[in-house]
Amino acid sequence: MIDTRQNPRTFHVKSFGCQMNVYDGERMAELLAGQGLSEVGADTADLVVLNTCHIREKAAEKVYSDIGRLAKREDAEGNRIARPMIAVAGCVAQAEGGEIPRRAPQVDIVVGPQAYHRLPAMVADAAAGKRALDTDMPAASKFGALPDRARRRSPGAFLTVQEGCDKFCTYCVVPYTRGAEISRPWSAIVDEARALVDGGAREITLLGQNVNAWEGEDEKGQRQGLDGLIRALDRIEGLARIRYTTSHPNDMREGLIRAHAEVEKLMPFLHLPVQSGSDRILKAMNRSHDAASYRAVIARVRAARPDIALSGDFIVGFPGETDAEFEETLALVSEARYAQAYSFKYSPRAGTPAATMADQIAPAVMDERLQRLQAAINADQHAFNQATVGRHTSVLLERKGKLPGQLIGKSPWLQSVHVVDPTAAIGDLVEVEIARAGPNSLSAVLFGRQAA
Ligand code: SAH
Ligand code: SF4
Ligand code: F3S
Repeated sequence: MIDTRQNPRTFHVKSFGCQMNVYDGERMAELLAGQGLSEVGADTADLVVLNTCHIREKAAEKVYSDIGRLAKREDAEGNRIARPMIAVAGCVAQAEGGEIPRRAPQVDIVVGPQAYHRLPAMVADAAAGKRALDTDMPAASKFGALPDRARRRSPGAFLTVQEGCDKFCTYCVVPYTRGAEISRPWSAIVDEARALVDGGAREITLLGQNVNAWEGEDEKGQRQGLDGLIRALDRIEGLARIRYTTSHPNDMREGLIRAHAEVEKLMPFLHLPVQSGSDRILKAMNRSHDAASYRAVIARVRAARPDIALSGDFIVGFPGETDAEFEETLALVSEARYAQAYSFKYSPRAGTPAATMADQIAPAVMDERLQRLQAAINADQHAFNQATVGRHTSVLLERKGKLPGQLIGKSPWLQSVHVVDPTAAIGDLVEVEIARAGPNSLSAVLFGRQAA
């Protein structure tokens, strides 16, 4: 067996977790491709990068089962093949560092989310038989060291504008794995957006753990918030749609809300996590907003953009959560009428304050609450989707579907929409009539096309 680890020629990047990890994964792939390596599947790659997530225990544990599988790789005939060089990147790398190779000695490289621009040098070290570990957090220096953006395979692109978090919610690992809150400079973002559009992007989603806290100075030296940045992107010819995620309720300022009423390319969608409907729990979570201020933000956004699709995140079973407090979450959900929302069972994370709080909730109670919450959210999602049936709207076609001639794209409200039309192609922004709504996707009939 040739040990390809001494000279890796092919790679595969597998990203878990949030969209920011997807963005980092793409940039790592571009970096490795720039070194002459080609991208292939995980079964045959000489180098596999596991770009990990540490947010909940289940997410963090996934990496170890993946490492085990990679170490015992087989080809199509069932013959054992050499294991790849294994790099663990992302938030587990940051949180666990040197613990990872101690637990999984097959790991050759450990690289944190702020250090991955050094990946090529680390691959060279590993090829020479030296284990490489880098979890430095020099805020933002990585961006300047990354190669230019590559041509897009899909018309939708992510663009990280803000990193890190200073909010320290008591359950959350992000401030520890991603570091302090920083905003990337205006010109770097605008240049990258232009490069993405030149490379075929038609929709850009601006990313940050607290994206609406982004601030900076424009080319005239004037202070700008996220809304200013959105307005600058709005002027890029060839870009059709702008989105942003994730926002914190406290940073939802007037200018950004106004942008939803005024900027045509800004899509009517807002992901605004709330976590709980109970003020006592929100306080224990250190969320720094209460249920009333969250309701008030939604009301302001809806006044500016009545058709906005609202999304959220919820945690059930935070330590000490009573039945009555959980009912307050259900009440908030029924008022907010989410178009979609994510809900999670509380997962204690070592090093966070909530992990050692009294009154941890029994798993069976969490299961039951999660089921009830998800049933309520699903019903609202279904109602939202149903209400779009018969509407004429635009869909950006992003990928092929399972059926012959079928293409899947997104509505302005981020719903998946299926169309079957021989004249349509990936990357087209088409005009459709929504014909049917299922629980997770819509089907539509195409009747027009917007000029490219
Ligand atoms: N910055 C965003 C999202 C952070 S992580 C925000 O402020 O909301 C994404 C979601 O994961 C969170 O919104 C929260 O709902 C969930 N989450 C974070 N830590 C968790 C934990 N320890 N257990 C369960 N869910 C968690
Ligand atoms: Fe985590 Fe809270 Fe920061 Fe969101 S705002 S990333 S939940 S600490
Ligand atoms: Fe996970 Fe890190 Fe994102 S912990 S959710 S990959 S910021």
